[in-house]
Amino acid sequence: MDLAAELKKLQQNLEKNFNTLPLATKPTDLVHGEGDPQAAVMLIGEGPGYYESVQRRPFVGRSGKLLRKTLNEINLSAEKVWISNIIKVRPPDNRDPTPKEIAAFRPYLNQEIELINPEIIITLGRFSMAKFLPEVKISQVHGRLHKVQWKQKSFYVLPMYHPAAALRSTQMAESFLADFQKVPKILIWLKEQQEIAKTKQKVEEALF
Ligand code: URA
Repeated sequence: MDLAAELKKLQQNLEKNFNTLPLATKPTDLVHGEGDPQAAVMLIGEGPGYYESVQRRPFVGRSGKLLRKTLNEINLSAEKVWISNIIKVRPPDNRDPTPKEIAAFRPYLNQEIELINPEIIITLGRFSMAKFLPEVKISQVHGRLHKVQWKQKSFYVLPMYHPAAALRSTQMAESFLADFQKVPKILIWLKEQQEIAKTKQKVEEALF
């Protein structure tokens, strides 16, 4: 089965089991991830808001528009990344997700990450950051690349402010943009690291 079909199957499974999930009253309450299944960059937000739950697409409301505009500005359109959320159903009044809700959606998010297998995960806001970096404060680590060991695989996590925070103040908006402007350089650096690792392996194979 190809990757897109596997992701579709995962989404259908979640819909079939909607009654085992918190917040969901029907299968169509679920808002799945979207984008390029082969993406090197995966973005994880908090949970759907009103517009996301109506359109059944992540990040299409006000903060989504800012996120998608910022991605375009760094030449990484939303179609080239994979965008998802920690929880897949809108909490009432857009309140924060509870630990119980986050835990209930965790197995699905984990499978989604394993299928996408991104090189970098950009966490948007503190809830998705806490999945990989539970001990840190977002104000101290935003825009800094972290190497993380997760399920026997190592990859990079780049914690960012949530776009909703960037909509609340000019200072946050500047920070948000400055952090995103680092992404193209990070991707070039990652490619270089992969090339170096390949060359090193070839040399080792020739010598030993
Ligand atoms: N905020 C999020 O965290 N996710 C969305 O999909 C929309 C708004």
